[in-house]
Parts: sequence; structure tokens; C-alpha cells
Amino acid sequence: MDHGMRVMTNCEIRFLPSGRTIRLSGEGTTLLEATRAAGLPIASACGENGACARCGLEIIAGADSLPGESDRERRIKSRNRIDPDLRLACRIRPVADLTVRARYW
Ligand code: FES
Repeated sequence: MDHGMRVMTNCEIRFLPSGRTIRLSGEGTTLLEATRAAGLPIASACGENGACARCGLEIIAGADSLPGESDRERRIKSRNRIDPDLRLACRIRPVADLTVRARYW
């Protein structure tokens, strides 16, 4: 097996307000995929391509472990009138525990 460039993950994602959790292990699951795996609805209108901003989630805890947002992410959110505090779940691959929330859950 080749573990060369892969990011191995072992972390827990907690979804508010229900408190439902899901454990991610292995490589490269996006926060959007984890949300669906937890059985929660999340919108996507761009093929999970970082272009529609529908997948925006609020990061309640653990944001320190995430890369800062790109200029593109900021632009996409402003163009789609998405709250600038939300992060695009299709762009995030968690590497440490996160607590997240969507207003519609
Ligand atoms: S699904 Fe479109 S930006 Fe994330």
C-alpha cells in the first residue's frame, strides 16, 4: 500500500443542534460527504465543485484545524449572498474534530 501523499484522517464530526456525530477515518472525505453520511440534508447545485455556495455550514468548533478560506471561496459566497462566516462544506476535508451547524437542521 502506498500512503505517500494521502491525508489520513481519524476524527469526529458533530452536527448541531441534534448532536449527531459521525467518525471519519481514512482519507479525504469532504465535510459535505460526511454530512450526507450522517443522514442530514445539505444542498449542492454545482456538483460539489466549490462554485454555488449552497453547501455553506457554520463551523462551531474546530475551525483552527482548517485551512483559511481562499479568495475564491470568499468571492463565491459574496456572489451568492451567502453569510461570509459559513464555510463551503464541499471544499473542506476535516483532519480533526469539528462541530458544525446549518440553520435548516
Ligand atoms: S456544493 Fe456548490 S459550493 Fe459546495
